[in-house]
Amino acid sequence: MMSDKKRLITGIKPTGDIHVGNYFGMMKPLLEFQDSHETFVFVADFHALNQVQNREEMSRLSLEIAKAYLAIGLDPEKVTLFRQSDVPEHAELTWIFNTITPMATLELAHAYKDALAKGKPANVGLFDYPILMSADILLYDSSFVPVGSDQRQHVEIAREVARDFNRIFGETFVEPKEIINDSVATVPGTDGRKMSKSYDNVIGLFDSEEETKKKAMSIVTDSRGADEPKDPDTCNVFALHKLFSESSLPDLEKRYRDGTISYKESKEILAQNINNYLAPIRERKRALDSDEASILAILEKGVARARKIAQEKMNIAREKCGFSRI
Ligand code: ADP
Ligand code: TRP
Repeated sequence: MMSDKKRLITGIKPTGDIHVGNYFGMMKPLLEFQDSHETFVFVADFHALNQVQNREEMSRLSLEIAKAYLAIGLDPEKVTLFRQSDVPEHAELTWIFNTITPMATLELAHAYKDALAKGKPANVGLFDYPILMSADILLYDSSFVPVGSDQRQHVEIAREVARDFNRIFGETFVEPKEIINDSVATVPGTDGRKMSKSYDNVIGLFDSEEETKKKAMSIVTDSRGADEPKDPDTCNVFALHKLFSESSLPDLEKRYRDGTISYKESKEILAQNINNYLAPIRERKRALDSDEASILAILEKGVARARKIAQEKMNIAREKCGFSRI
C-alpha cells in the first residue's frame, strides 16, 4: 500500500475493557485520520503482558480490542490493523534501543515512577515499556502518534531514542510527534478523577444501557439542591455532557447557572444521551461478536502489511549496527 500520506500509528493495551475515556482520548480521532493519513493501529499485547499473565484472558482481551477498533467505524480497507506480537521485530528493535538508552531516561518515566511511589513491584518489562513503545512507533517511520495526554512523555522518549540512534549509527529513524486533542485530553470518570480502568470509575464503551444508567447516576457531585445555581465548569456530570450532549449544551449550561436543573435530572439526561450516542457502536460490536472469523481474517491481512514494513526497516537497522548478513 504505497501512499503519499503521512504515516500515523497508535496502539491500545489489551488490559481491560474499553471505556469512553479511551474512545474520546484516542479512538475517535482515528476516524478522521484514516482518510487523511496512512493509519496503523495495533493491539499492544506485548505491553499488556506486564499486567495480563493468563493465556485465556490475553487472547479474549486482544480480540476485544480488535473488535472495538472495528466497532467504532475503522475501515480495514483503509487502516492496517494488527496484533503487536505477530510482528516480532518490535521486540528485536527494543533490544537495540535498550543498548543506547540511559537508565536515567527510564527512571524518569511516569509508569515506572508511579509503580515505585505506590510501593508496587516493578518488573523489567514495566521499566522498559517506553522503549518498546519507541520501537512500535519508529519501526514504521510514523510521523504522528495520536494518544491521550498521559502518553506525551512516552512519545517524547521515542523522539529521543530516534535522535540518539541517528546520531550514533547514521540517519535511520523518523522523529515522531504526538497528537493530543486538548479539548478531551482527560475524560473524567464517575468519581471525578481521570477515567481509568485502574480506578474502577469507568463508563464502558460496550456497557449495557442499564449499566450505563447506573454508572451515570453514581457520578460524584457536590450537594447543591435542585433549585440552587450550579457550576458547569466544575461539575463532573457536565464534563461528560460536553462530550455526549453537544446539541443541548447551551440549554443545559443555562439551567445549571439558573438553578433550574437538579443533579439527578442532569444525570438522567446524560445517561440517555450516552446510550443514544453509543447505540450504533454497540450494535456493530454485537454483529462482530457473532463473526469472529472475519476479525481474524482482518488481523491476518493487517499483519502481512505491517510485517513487510517492519522487516524492511529492521533490515536497515541491523545493517547500521553491523549485523549484516554473512
Ligand atoms: P487506562 O487508564 O484505563 O488504563 P489506557 O492507559 O489503556 O487506559 O489508555 C489507552 C489510551 O486511551 C491512551 O492513549 C490513553 O491516553 C487514552 N485514555 C485513557 N484514559 C483516558 C481518559 N480518561 N481521557 C482521555 N484519554 C484517555
Ligand atoms: N502505551 C500506550 C498506552 O498505554 C499504548 C501503546 C503502546 C502505544 N505502544 C504504542 C500508543 C505506540 C501509541 C503508539 O496507552
